[in-house]
Amino acid sequence: MRTVTVGVLGSGTVGQNVLNLIERRRPVFADMGVNIEIAGVLVRDLNKPRDLPAGTRVTGGCDFLQECEVVVECMGGIERPLELLRPYLRSGRPVITANKALLAERWDELREYALNGKLYYEASVMAGTPVIGPMSTVLRASTFQGLQAVLNGTCNFILTQMEAGKAYADALAEAQALGYAEDPPTLDVGGFDTAHKLTVLARFCADGDFPYSAVQVTGIEGVTQAEIAAARAAGERVKLVAELAPDGQGSWNATVAPKRLPADHALCTAGASRNAMVYEGEESGQLIFAGGGAGGMVTASAMVGDLLDYVLGFPGHVPLH
Ligand code: NDP
Ligand code: HSE
Repeated sequence: MRTVTVGVLGSGTVGQNVLNLIERRRPVFADMGVNIEIAGVLVRDLNKPRDLPAGTRVTGGCDFLQECEVVVECMGGIERPLELLRPYLRSGRPVITANKALLAERWDELREYALNGKLYYEASVMAGTPVIGPMSTVLRASTFQGLQAVLNGTCNFILTQMEAGKAYADALAEAQALGYAEDPPTLDVGGFDTAHKLTVLARFCADGDFPYSAVQVTGIEGVTQAEIAAARAAGERVKLVAELAPDGQGSWNATVAPKRLPADHALCTAGASRNAMVYEGEESGQLIFAGGGAGGMVTASAMVGDLLDYVLGFPGHVPLH
């Protein structure tokens, strides 16, 4: 039996579910001849109660990184995880992450590792609904024409709750309680999390170096109950829509903004906290992806899927060269 030593950074909504799902999938790893050993789990607050497999080594230090074959990063933020991962990546070892902010904003440092197949990040966009996998493999054969997507579970949940008459602040508090929101939630409601995800996607279909700064962002903070009601009366719904479209000059326009869409549009029918993407390829035709886009276990399913891919010898997600 081969032992694969895994270090986990963060044990909040996502990290706890990753650890529990690894535990549940031990028989699958064993069938592959692999024993997963959790070397350590980094947290801030050692006194916080956590739902973790018995015996999990939770710690405030990260010495365990030295002995890991793989690191799973689910702590969030940008500078702190990068500081921890930098020496580790330089040593040639792989990282599994759900951190779209880090990917979008620090591509200058991360791109070479992604190109070398050392970064696995299916969970960073649409959580457990696979879009990065198809876009980094089979869809490369098709000529990309554009995409429209709902990529933020928190905003989608808030807008759906507002349709039902709930106040914006109450809906946001509920999304936070469900574990959907970022810390701080301005990342969600300001449209920045959606812009991070659109940037990650653009690097698989438009430009391997697509900069986060190129995305024009408007959030949902200004959307009023009256606007939502007016849309409903017209058979439409308000969604925070991410869009990548040709600019007519050989490049791409990337935007994130609230939009009114017909109620039967694929982006509207996905569900309250679910995400959806309509992908247009010349040869592939129109493809619709929809499913869970936020929440602990749905995200863990993609991260543990990435771990299985690593164990099987598949490379991480390689952007356009
Ligand atoms: P949480 O806030 O629930 O968990 C963060 C964890 O990281 C906590 O355990 C926290 O420790 C630990 N942590 C944070 N900063 C530090 C630090 N400086 N030093 C040590 N430990 C630290 O976040 P989530 O689990 O919701 O999200 C984690 C990542 O996953 C983020 O990048 C997020 O964008 C991404 N993601 C989240 C999804 C979701 O639905 N929640 C879906 C897809 C991606 P402590 O517990 O002690 O506070
Ligand atoms: N805060 C994010 C959302 C988590 O609401 O979509 C999933 O990336």
